[in-house]
Amino acid sequence: MSSVAHGTFNATDRFAIGWYWVVGSDELPRRGVQRVRVQGRELVVWRGEDGVAHVVDAYCPHMGAHLQDGQVEGDGLRCFFHAWKFGPDGACVDVPCQPKPVRARVKTWPTVERYGMVWVWTGETPTHDPVCVPDLDVADRGDVRLVPETFEKRCHPNVMMINAIDAQHFNSVHNLPARLHMARSDVSVNAVNFANDIPPREDTWFGRFLRRFYAGPITYTLRYWFGHTGCVTLGPDFLHFHIVFALRGNDAGGTEGRTLLVTRHRPGLFGQAFSGVLLALTKVVGDYFAQGDTKVFQTIRFDFQTPIGADQAILGFIQHYDAQPAAAWGTWAPLGTASSDERPAHEAATA
Ligand code: FES
Ligand SMILES: [Fe+2]
Repeated sequence: MSSVAHGTFNATDRFAIGWYWVVGSDELPRRGVQRVRVQGRELVVWRGEDGVAHVVDAYCPHMGAHLQDGQVEGDGLRCFFHAWKFGPDGACVDVPCQPKPVRARVKTWPTVERYGMVWVWTGETPTHDPVCVPDLDVADRGDVRLVPETFEKRCHPNVMMINAIDAQHFNSVHNLPARLHMARSDVSVNAVNFANDIPPREDTWFGRFLRRFYAGPITYTLRYWFGHTGCVTLGPDFLHFHIVFALRGNDAGGTEGRTLLVTRHRPGLFGQAFSGVLLALTKVVGDYFAQGDTKVFQTIRFDFQTPIGADQAILGFIQHYDAQPAAAWGTWAPLGTASSDERPAHEAATA
């Protein structure tokens, strides 16, 4: 049997356009400037004195100096080399050696902050809202904790994402004493839900125990955003835990990701203390999920040759991912291959 045919899924030369994580908000102080690689593209993220974060292409449009060496001045960024200054929209606003600025512009990318993270839109104009936890009210961004460490895996972000809906491995790897079936429902072109639709079994003591906590199916839901950020919701009916795994491709064709722990916002001192305890518990659950498969992701060579009925959700993910508008905007090498030169900004292609 031949492998499942792929479009954008697991590709290293294009990926779904969307919001991708850049850096933790607290890790970028006012006047801070940092180099960052997102999906193989060299970028600089900086925060103006007004507190607004910006993501721009890394190289100065004058002579190509790296803007990571630049300095923030007001709401603009001044290049280290010849001290040209670029405003928040990327336009050159000052050239010190002459009375007027020139018509030059550093490429800017749409940037937002949400859940204590800076996110960049990898296309020209955002066509979708930033990532959010579906259970929470739009006005409630929740109480959030960003796990400080960045994790790395030696597999493509898409391949890591499907792990969360790989029902077979919950039993084989994570020893879950219950069966799950992940049913797909599309939310938009960029977002898709997979939710367990099987209630706990009645013929085992564990199943009967679980039934005390679930009126219907065991709550285990995945909301995928742009195929690179997955929001897990789980827990008994009266208390849901949310874990957001935000992934992006690194230069070696692997994954680097951040974990966000989210619970609904609780006001007051007691509310905050309760949220703190819940988030600590959420971290324990998240670590359990993240660590069980580590050795698989160190060595896997993803080749989906023999899908079976139990892989239906994974096939659904691939199908949904492949239908998303895609971009090629950086050099993102397949695993084991050194990355080569950057594509110039004008070659960034959208389809
Ligand atoms: S290279 Fe940036 S101002 Fe000259
Ligand atoms: Fe797993």
